[in-house]
Amino acid sequence: MGNRQVIDSTALLVRKILAGAEAGHDWWHINRVWNNAKLIAGHEDVDLFVVELAALLHDIADAKFHGGDEEVGPRVAGDFLTSVKVDPAVIEHVQNIIRYMSFKASFGNVAFHSKELAVVQDADRLDAIGAIGIARAFSYGGYKNREMYNPEIAPNLNMSKDDYKNSAAPTINHFYEKLLLLKDKMNTQTGKAIAQQRHQFMEQYLEQFYAEWNGVEREQNPERQ
Ligand code: ADP
Ligand code: NI
Repeated sequence: MGNRQVIDSTALLVRKILAGAEAGHDWWHINRVWNNAKLIAGHEDVDLFVVELAALLHDIADAKFHGGDEEVGPRVAGDFLTSVKVDPAVIEHVQNIIRYMSFKASFGNVAFHSKELAVVQDADRLDAIGAIGIARAFSYGGYKNREMYNPEIAPNLNMSKDDYKNSAAPTINHFYEKLLLLKDKMNTQTGKAIAQQRHQFMEQYLEQFYAEWNGVEREQNPERQ
């Protein structure tokens, strides 16, 4: 199989496996991350084949839906890529990207680095911020039956990996615990520039959210008067 065919069959497999997945981690998340990854990779000197495969396979089996087993994803991805005869070195690289790219993995020492990981991680992080990021956070909070906001529960700004995994806090807290921190964690110049704009959108969103929550009228947008 040529590289293009491998990518097409990987996309088909992922789409099939993620049918019916929760909205924040469904095929459309993968499709957005794939597109973001290709966009960023266009400005970087990277192996596009590895980038595309890792973007497509990065959420193939999320540990939080498999009893915390963080090796399921790399294993499923590896088995599939072996079945379509991808070079073992490429498979190992893709598996390492899947293993090390999640936000959880950024707690503690990260033992693996590559330019391809940097690109795919930025692509995934971009999908957690901005308008889509807001939609995903409330979708996830709803899925977990969380409160949207509770002014009596302050965000926890010093979370360990376990605190982060076990948090049942209101969804608004997640903005302070993760989403607003992402712009400073971007790896690539292209990723940083896109993140900056999405970050500002989230800040405006939060201002509007609190104004509405408190029944306060915000200043009218002069263009609309
Ligand atoms: P990662 O794999 O990078 O640790 P997650 O799988 O935890 O990320 O997050 C996937 C999506 O769900 C993201 O959009 C994230 O912002 C959202 N999410 C994760 N935890 C929460 C939470 N506690 N409240 C709201 N949204 C969340
Ligand atoms: Ni993802």
